[in-house]
Amino acid sequence: MKRTLLVGITCLLASAMIASAAEGVIAEAMKTYHKGETAPCKAVAAGTASPKDLADILKAYQDMSAAKPAKGTTASWKQKCDALIVAVKEIQAKNPKGTGDYKKAVNCKACHDVHKAPKA
Ligand code: HEC
Repeated sequence: MKRTLLVGITCLLASAMIASAAEGVIAEAMKTYHKGETAPCKAVAAGTASPKDLADILKAYQDMSAAKPAKGTTASWKQKCDALIVAVKEIQAKNPKGTGDYKKAVNCKACHDVHKAPKA
């Protein structure tokens, strides 16, 4: 009995840690790839990002997709992250639709309005 309780508490703690790490994933991706005039997302939209930048930003979007935003539904979040993932993959495959699709997908306000929690 005591043992079961201990295992239960350990699981709870572990999942709480995973949840908070996952939230940080989104903020980190924003700071690294979206924020500022020289952010990598600008080069991706312009079609001038290096293969390494494309690979890095794709990984960040895949991590974001697996994380949970503080606001909005999971379905909407997945759809927005998937649009980013698909667009980066198109750019990697030199599909001419890629940068146009990326510019649509990386719409800051459209996503923040739905998924970014207001500052406490
Ligand atoms: C697919 C959805 C999505 C898109 C597109 C998006 N953001 Fe975000 N952004 C978020 C979410 C969700 C948060 C809140 C993250 C958190 O605090 O956990 C956020 C937070 C931020 C933050 C605050 C990070 C911090 O310091 O905590 C900045 C800065 C930011 N976004 C910039 C941008 C810019 C600039 C763009 C457009 C080029 C953009 N974002 C596009 C979802 C998105």
